[in-house]
Amino acid sequence: MEIVILASASEIGVVGAEIIERLIRGRPNAVLGLATGSSPLDVYRDLIRRHRDGGLSFRAVTSFLVDEYVGLSPDHPSSYRRYINEHFATHVDLPQAQLHGPNGLAEDLIGEGERYESAIQAAGGVDLQLLGLGTNGHIGFNEPGSSLQSCTRVKTLTAQTRLDNARYFSSVDEVPAHVLTQGIGTILRARHVLLVAVGEAKAEPVARAVEGPVTAMVPGSALQLHPRVTALVDEAAASRLQLAQYYRDTYAAKPS
Ligand code: F6R
Repeated sequence: MEIVILASASEIGVVGAEIIERLIRGRPNAVLGLATGSSPLDVYRDLIRRHRDGGLSFRAVTSFLVDEYVGLSPDHPSSYRRYINEHFATHVDLPQAQLHGPNGLAEDLIGEGERYESAIQAAGGVDLQLLGLGTNGHIGFNEPGSSLQSCTRVKTLTAQTRLDNARYFSSVDEVPAHVLTQGIGTILRARHVLLVAVGEAKAEPVARAVEGPVTAMVPGSALQLHPRVTALVDEAAASRLQLAQYYRDTYAAKPS
């Protein structure tokens, strides 16, 4: 993994957006995997700025959300479809028909997972997967104990994740118990993974994912098996990394 330690969330936004812009400029029909939550917000903000000020176009881009709550309609205020529209998609020229997410209202949820997995493959696979990291080390909604080869499927959220995400609902009881999420295997098939982690609450999961053993107990640690991961972390999220200074030196010496 390439670990990039940056001073602030806004700097992470700029560097993350730069990586995505470079991909799209070289490959206008790129396939993006999109995460929600607070971590990627600055990346989306900077992509919107690049669209408005620099003419970066998403017209030919296809995108796939990493996860969605089971039981929420796409226009539910806390659905991830609504989130991505509010924070990104409707501010750029990404056609709605090219914005895909698991259907949390599907009657056949097992079939929906399989359909979504096939849709990603049919689009040629994901060129760049943007990810956050849960306080319990999850990626997507692959909670601890998830198979490292899992595909898109239904997962049950842990009590910790429901608490962490209660801020997007009126109470923790409103947070759905189940989600559809791309699997760890799905995520590992993306050609480039861009992981974003901000704040002290992410220090422990970042250290375990990056420097700990690869284990299903820390789903983010599976990224160590991927040949191309870029992790953008702020100083607080990097604070428990044993090799922090080495990562700083490596990045500072990187040829441009
Ligand atoms: C969101 C997702 C989750 C979040 C993670 C971190 O689509 O799949 O894995 O990325 O829970 O959430 P934040 O960024 O809100 O701390």
